[in-house]
Amino acid sequence: MAVSIKSAREIELMRESCRLLSIVHDELGKAIRPGISTYEIDALGEKLIRDCGCIPNFLHYNGYPASICVSVNDEVVHGIPRKDRILQEGDIVSLDAGLIYKGYHSDAARTYGVGKISAEAQQLIDVTKQSFFEGIKMAKAGNHLYDISNAIDAYVSQFGYGIVRDLVGHGIGTSLHEDPQIPNFAQRRRGLKLQAGMTLAIEPMINMGRCDVEWLEDDWTVVAEDGSLSAHYENTVLITEGEPEILTLPISER
Ligand code: MF3
Ligand code: CO
Repeated sequence: MAVSIKSAREIELMRESCRLLSIVHDELGKAIRPGISTYEIDALGEKLIRDCGCIPNFLHYNGYPASICVSVNDEVVHGIPRKDRILQEGDIVSLDAGLIYKGYHSDAARTYGVGKISAEAQQLIDVTKQSFFEGIKMAKAGNHLYDISNAIDAYVSQFGYGIVRDLVGHGIGTSLHEDPQIPNFAQRRRGLKLQAGMTLAIEPMINMGRCDVEWLEDDWTVVAEDGSLSAHYENTVLITEGEPEILTLPISER
């Protein structure tokens, strides 16, 4: 499938979809504390999404049973919320959320510490977030897709962390997952040429240990095979002729 180039009207709809998601994420972030269950986080997320008149795009996606992916510690992504999964002081938790506004999808993820966490865990979270920003320094029209992948890899590799290879970022628009796929690790080719009007979900997933992952019995939850901590950071980004627009970050944080 060809990579879609959004019209001015579509870009406005993407902006609004992503702006609403940034608010949902900020509210979810405030709810993170020892004692909350991953189920409660999902319920709050679904309510926030529906209260702004939107639809949770993850719910029932390929049979996924919730609106928010909540992944704790060695869980990389796609953790399924559960009433008996209670966050504990010292855990790290990744929240992946998305919504549909007037037919247009947004997608973003954040990783938080629960209460006081170790310096090592905090570094993993910080490096994962920074790797996104290193990647999007390359995200402008005329550059190539894998310039982003290579920049993420070059930054993360300095820390000896494992970059997850089995899952990648993606185009986004009238579908949650559109072409192209966006690896977070170095590529030998340059990939397609970036054009203004592309909207991309760029989402490094980084393990403190090795890069290998496996799937739990539920067929969704992806975990680090070596049991090491894992962090995830994602935003939906608009490619322009100049600096990219990070649509799922509040303007004050860009
Ligand atoms: N943000 C996730 C991704 O891009 C979407 C998860 S789909 C779900 O892969 F079904 F797991 F929710
Ligand atoms: Co995504």
